[in-house]
Amino acid sequence: MTEKPVLWLPRRVSDATVERACRDYEVILNDDDTPGTPDEIIAMSAKVDAMMPCHSEHFSADVVSRLDPRLKIVANHSVGVDHCDLQALAAKGIVVTNTPDVLSDATAELAMLLMLGAARHAVRGDRLMRTGAWDSWSPSFMVGKQVTGARLGIVGMGRVGRAFAEKARGFDMDIHYFNRTRLSPYQELGATYHESIESLLPVADFLSLHCPATSDTTNLINAERMAAMRDGAILVNTARGALVDEDALLQAIKSEKLAAAGLDCFKTEPGGNPKFADHENIFMLPHIGSATTKTRDAMGFRALDNLDAFFAGKKPRDLL
Ligand code: DGY
Repeated sequence: MTEKPVLWLPRRVSDATVERACRDYEVILNDDDTPGTPDEIIAMSAKVDAMMPCHSEHFSADVVSRLDPRLKIVANHSVGVDHCDLQALAAKGIVVTNTPDVLSDATAELAMLLMLGAARHAVRGDRLMRTGAWDSWSPSFMVGKQVTGARLGIVGMGRVGRAFAEKARGFDMDIHYFNRTRLSPYQELGATYHESIESLLPVADFLSLHCPATSDTTNLINAERMAAMRDGAILVNTARGALVDEDALLQAIKSEKLAAAGLDCFKTEPGGNPKFADHENIFMLPHIGSATTKTRDAMGFRALDNLDAFFAGKKPRDLL
């Protein structure tokens, strides 16, 4: 009987994923569920053939240069791969995969929650109720911004951007988007294409970010671009914290240039930005865009499908 490949699961993934992984691999679990440190990743690379990390495990060029040649594949349990130096991993001959598609709906749902919550004062309303501070009502009380019929600007019309557009159509939103390439009419479904982010910003009542974090998109939404947004617009970010200049966002919120923001991603994770906490019109969640039971199972299974293909000598579906 051939020996099973050894697989390290640095984080606690879904029970169904662990069960399937244990059936087909010699699995090393991390019962503490703490993020894999560079030293752990390096030490573990000499003991395993494969790893299934999340975005919390960082494969920097330095870490990759110290990986043991035993490690053959990094099958990410994430769609984002900004935690991996792909060039360094390729140079080392390590195969890298991710888990696209399966988290698009869950992430789009969360973008909708953030957009609605930011637009309708969810943080303040919740606080008033919890603290017993709700003591009056008038037609001018907690008046928010209507989502139905408003114009939604989407930056990055990949799978998640398109899933969000589909949900936003249910709110009769007028969809505009910026993407490196224009979608086919079949995918565009009547959305208005903008060749530059500059032309999208002044028309959007709500701006939602759905592009990957790369060296080109760091601080994509900076002070200059926030100034170009509509007065009273609302920014939503379920992609990566790296995309937004957080100091500029704070200024835009303080000056009321932006009415609100809905954020699931921050420059510092875990932890977020404590300066945002004083502003109830910043509705925040702790990077849980893909955190549903169905999606976690699907992500784990997709990562395992990639591993299975690799160890069967086939090309993994999500080879990067
Ligand atoms: C992803 O898959 O990139 C999500 O952000 C969770 O890691």
